[in-house]
Amino acid sequence: VDRRDVGVRRSPFLVTYWTGDEHRVYSFCNRTEHRCTPLVFTILESAAKWRSRAEIAQSVSDSDAESVYAVLDGLERDGLLESNDRPTGEAERALAKWESWNPAAGFFHAVTRTAPIGGEAPRPKSLVVAKSFPSPVKAYEGRTRIELPALEGDGTLDDVLHERRTWREFGERNLTLVELTTLLGETFAVQKWMEVEDGDWVALKTSPSGGARHSIEAYVFAFGVDGLDGGTYHYNPDTHSLTSLGSATRHLLAEFIPGREAFHGPAVFIALTSVFARMQYKYPLPHAYRVVLLDAGHLSQTFALVATALGLAPFCTAAIDADAIERHLELDGISESAILGLGVGTRPAGKDWSPMHDHSAPPATRPPKRSSRAR
Ligand SMILES: Cc1cc2nc3c(=O)[nH]c(=O)nc-3n(C[C@H](O)[C@H](O)[C@H](O)COP(=O)(O)O)c2cc1C
Repeated sequence: VDRRDVGVRRSPFLVTYWTGDEHRVYSFCNRTEHRCTPLVFTILESAAKWRSRAEIAQSVSDSDAESVYAVLDGLERDGLLESNDRPTGEAERALAKWESWNPAAGFFHAVTRTAPIGGEAPRPKSLVVAKSFPSPVKAYEGRTRIELPALEGDGTLDDVLHERRTWREFGERNLTLVELTTLLGETFAVQKWMEVEDGDWVALKTSPSGGARHSIEAYVFAFGVDGLDGGTYHYNPDTHSLTSLGSATRHLLAEFIPGREAFHGPAVFIALTSVFARMQYKYPLPHAYRVVLLDAGHLSQTFALVATALGLAPFCTAAIDADAIERHLELDGISESAILGLGVGTRPAGKDWSPMHDHSAPPATRPPKRSSRAR
């Protein structure tokens, strides 16, 4: 087939950057990358508007046509160039709606969506950013320090706050439906509605949300809840109900949280996703992508505190494979994307602490001596 007449155009979702001496061009739509050689750069420059492949080959006169066509093939294949003999993809259409969030938030979204597989493995030295162990606290020298009165808890909220821990082992007992219901209702249910514009209402929940947009959705994967069939559910925060979306077994967690075996045994896993348009409608600047992440963090802490108050064993993890979760939930990963994973089970018998896999000693209750390295 003679493809010389096929029109091509530069993808609107490209970022170029230098790393060391190498110039790279990255598509934050397709998550593909090419070296941005002078030839690639010239081709992308000349393809700002639709042009035929032949025109582009002619305009790059100092390279022979064959090598230009070879580069064009590669750029088209990886979506750095659109071509008019192929329909616009769903991802392109969804990402176009991010408008002024691009390129910054679109780029950040693409490169941070999914944790590297095998998460707990030792990192290669070249990937260690800080070269020595940074002090965990900051202290000013030579400044007046004001001692504060000792904390006087009232024995309710502060007990829960101090008892919250991340759990990586779980008990045999299933969750009761009341426990799950309490967790979902107290964390995600709409408490009140507030009219913000003529006829437009936003939800208020037990956690704050930037602009009260509450872009975060909760999908429940039930593996061990008495009175609820195992399966995938969407929690409806307005009606405090679950919509059944299909089956689910614990095996999914090996895909959803790869390399984190300690998190593969909870009775319930909850995937938090964001419907970005809720945030984008009010906040057109990419800064609001931060707000999405912060919102998820607030919900996560509320969830952990409710679970702790119920005597349960919660965790949260950012080490999710967003692609795997989105495939299961049939989400496009752009208009709605997985952000954070939450889990909860019962507590394992005879344990009141479930440390990180590589720390067997129980945590100290007294503050450590400030090391001489601390600054
Ligand atoms: C955003 C976020 C992501 C986390 N991801 C992981 C994880 O992938 N694996 C893990 O073992 N713990 C994970 N944790 C739990 C932390 O390791 C834990 O909070 C920390 O060790 C302090 O312990 P604590 O929660 O019991 O106070 C995560 C915590 C947060 C807030």
